[in-house]
Amino acid sequence: MHLGLVGYGNIGKSLLDLLGAEDLARVTVLARPGKAVAHPRAEVAETTEALIAARPDLLVECAGHAAVRETVLPALKAGIDVVLVSIGALSDAALETALHRAAQDGGAMLILPAGAIGGIDLLAAMAPAGGLEVRYTGTKPPQAWRGTPAEDRIDLDGLTEATVFFSGTARDVAQAFPKNANVAATLALAGAGMDATQVELVADPTAAGNRHAYAVTSPLGDYEIRIDNRASNGNAKTSAATIYSVLREIRNRKGPVVI
Ligand SMILES: NC(=O)c1ccc[n+]([C@@H]2O[C@H](COP(=O)([O-])OP(=O)(O)OC[C@H]3O[C@@H](n4cnc5c(N)ncnc54)[C@H](O)[C@@H]3O)[C@@H](O)[C@H]2O)c1
Repeated sequence: MHLGLVGYGNIGKSLLDLLGAEDLARVTVLARPGKAVAHPRAEVAETTEALIAARPDLLVECAGHAAVRETVLPALKAGIDVVLVSIGALSDAALETALHRAAQDGGAMLILPAGAIGGIDLLAAMAPAGGLEVRYTGTKPPQAWRGTPAEDRIDLDGLTEATVFFSGTARDVAQAFPKNANVAATLALAGAGMDATQVELVADPTAAGNRHAYAVTSPLGDYEIRIDNRASNGNAKTSAATIYSVLREIRNRKGPVVI
């Protein structure tokens, strides 16, 4: 496979370290100018145009919201399938519509990985039956909410117990906490939609790591899931499981068995 990569940060670098020669015939990486790409088989593209001209079989976006607009949109239009990791970007309804249209016009697939969360297979399977209710709670230790608008809502240093500082829909969370919207957006897109997926964000001084919990009720059945993720080595804000979720998407493209 010829893999294209947008972003050579924590996820991008870890992915290339995990992918073996049997996975990759060729890799083309679009990184920020001046960023060294330390991989023996990686070719560096300086621009989105050069990345598209290289015609990767599959493009993985692991860069951020700006790259979704600048690179994923034209790549889809050019007929290149894309695994999009910065899923929170799709909380912007206009951008979501533009991505759908670009994929349709280009005859390409926009692939949304489960990322840091699980159970997306069952949630997405249940969605066409309607009547879904989804309630998600994202819990992190107070220090993990540093640098986010949580600082303006509660005294992170003074907490003695788990405290809910945000309650709203998946679309609201994208507005208020754009850098923490990936999981809520993934649940919303797979299930009940951005405006009918309820979200709570919690700072908990007893939490050891990042916890994602959600409950689903549906005419087809009910379930609850709770995931205590370990942080990735390169970025404490990104769960290690996210990197492996993207690895799974890449390997599933190759087959011969898809699971
Ligand atoms: N879906 C999920 O569950 C999930 C989970 C974790 C992270 N994410 C998202 O994945 C993305 C990457 O996460 P990370 O931990 O690797 O972050 P990171 O900050 O370590 O790496 C991002 C890299 O992309 C580069 N970059 C940014 N804009 C770019 C552009 N336009 N073109 C080329 N390179 C660009 C940055 O310089 C940086 O090196 C983030 O947007 C994050 O929100 C999604």
